[in-house]
Amino acid sequence: TDPAIIRNFCIIAHIDHGKSTLADRMLQSTGVVQARDMKAQYLDRMDIERERGITIKSQAVRMPWEVDGVSYALNMIDTPGHVDFTYEVSRSLAACEGAILLVDAAQGIEAQTLANLYLAMENNLAIIPVLNKIDLPAAQPEKYAAELASLIGGDPEDVLRVSGKTGMGVEALLDKIVRDLPAPKGDPDAPARAMIFDSVYDTYRGVVTYVRVVDGMLHPRERIQMMSTKASHELLEIGVSSPEPTPSKGLGVGEVGYLITGVKDVRQSKVGDTVTNLAKPAAESLPGYADAKPMVFSGLYPLDGADYPVLRDALEKLMLNDAALVYEPETSAALGFGFRVGFLGLLHLEITRERLEREYNLDLISTAPNVEYEVTLEDKKVVRVTNPSEYPTGKIAEVREPMVSATILAPNEFVGAIMELCQSRRGVMNGMDYLSEDRVEIRYRLPLAEIVFDFFDILKSKTRGYGSLDWKADGEQVADLVKVDIMLQGEQVDAFSAITHRDKAYAYGVMMTGKLRELIPRQQFEVPIQAAIGSRIIARESIRAIRKDVLAKCYGGDISRKRKLLEKQKEGKKRMKMVGTVEVPQEAFIAALTTD
Ligand code: GTP
Repeated sequence: TDPAIIRNFCIIAHIDHGKSTLADRMLQSTGVVQARDMKAQYLDRMDIERERGITIKSQAVRMPWEVDGVSYALNMIDTPGHVDFTYEVSRSLAACEGAILLVDAAQGIEAQTLANLYLAMENNLAIIPVLNKIDLPAAQPEKYAAELASLIGGDPEDVLRVSGKTGMGVEALLDKIVRDLPAPKGDPDAPARAMIFDSVYDTYRGVVTYVRVVDGMLHPRERIQMMSTKASHELLEIGVSSPEPTPSKGLGVGEVGYLITGVKDVRQSKVGDTVTNLAKPAAESLPGYADAKPMVFSGLYPLDGADYPVLRDALEKLMLNDAALVYEPETSAALGFGFRVGFLGLLHLEITRERLEREYNLDLISTAPNVEYEVTLEDKKVVRVTNPSEYPTGKIAEVREPMVSATILAPNEFVGAIMELCQSRRGVMNGMDYLSEDRVEIRYRLPLAEIVFDFFDILKSKTRGYGSLDWKADGEQVADLVKVDIMLQGEQVDAFSAITHRDKAYAYGVMMTGKLRELIPRQQFEVPIQAAIGSRIIARESIRAIRKDVLAKCYGGDISRKRKLLEKQKEGKKRMKMVGTVEVPQEAFIAALTTD
């Protein structure tokens, strides 16, 4: 295909501003999907995968569109929507020349609108601003067109107005893509270079890798090489999705498509890597390759210890399709055998846990999530800690924690509440801008640990749903952090250890000892519950002893009732864990670890 007739673009938007709906409508308007086959969110993988039993999700779809008698090939590249997956968003953007910046005409610009716009600008993309949902009675196109125009420059009149729902304005948008976005450029005679922007595992075909060719050409049956690992594979199939996968005779400059090599593990075909030709390799890879870095760690344990092998196999399988997932085995005195798993964020954790439970029929306990700390000991040794129970016991010189820079957008009446929230989370303000009369952008640098768990929910409630948040990693910083241990009868319970800021250690100790006092049944003897920093006790509770035994109320007479009670007690014991001499029901652990 001649690069002059190719346009590569993506749609970027804040969540719920209608990206999927618009994408569906474009497929329909270009005739790629017939109206009668159209189902909502055609591009959404999971749904269809279940329905047909195969993966046909196209991370990129090729659509024909005619302008002035010339037939163009439009490649629409999908980008993941959530902040956890920013790295993948930026890889998808790097595969395009242009982006449609989609904004809900009833909502206006929000935090991910900005974050995605900045990513697009970093990638030098041409931007087409578009207001969506203009069919809504609450739409305020004039107001938000002005807001958009002042953000990216240009005339409010040039902001397109569309409705993904009714189809209004969609054809004009397709025309504009052809007219306003640049055609891809590249050297057809140079050694092949193609960037991987997505890689998915398909049970039947192995890993399907989505690429954008920058230079040269890739052909079926030739050997290709992954430039980061130097691993080489035979190209079994190469093609484009329109939207069903259609094999082709090769992909040239500017083209977007998929390739299949028979590898079984997405880590062999990593997002951001460059594919070249083994026989005539490129000298330099394309810019921008970096491993996705896990930010949040949690211990995953099977409720039933016998399920450990099932969990191990399940994690191995999930990893085939998720290059960002990392894990290693760990044991906990309280929870038995399990894994410490690293995630991109809390959403990634939740999705992974849900998939493990649903697809592999597992019941899991996940320990309270934490970030990764860097601990420097006085003898200069540096330890990276992803599990609080592995916090070094030696003399500590300093502890560093990961930081983020966060952007919050909200109506200006909430500025006070937002600043208060950020301050209480140890944030330092980086700046504030008015995007319009009544909407502000507030920037803070905050510890990741303070933002990654419940921050967004609190922000939402403090701004009555209007606040939006985006953040990205921003180095590390020394902080006054301590490890709080929880002890039952003097015995440390590893699953409840936490690393917190010194100012918050006391609150954690009081909360956790109180919770456990409620949850652990009374024993034959008094059980002290303590929270400690090192050898210093910061909070304590105690569970009083019981004296009566279960048989007391049976008057010694009723044998069958006695037996029943003993049976019951035995049942109960099975699900008890011994911590020292204290019996703790499994449920107590789960309840204590569940955050509310
Ligand atoms: P994903 O992040 O990919 O899921 O897409 P999205 O969140 O950007 O938006 P999605 O297409 O799922 O749309 C979000 C909601 O807005 C859905 O309830 C849609 O039905 C609705 N919606 C999308 N486009 C329009 C539109 O043009 N008009 C109206 N009235 N509603 C729309």
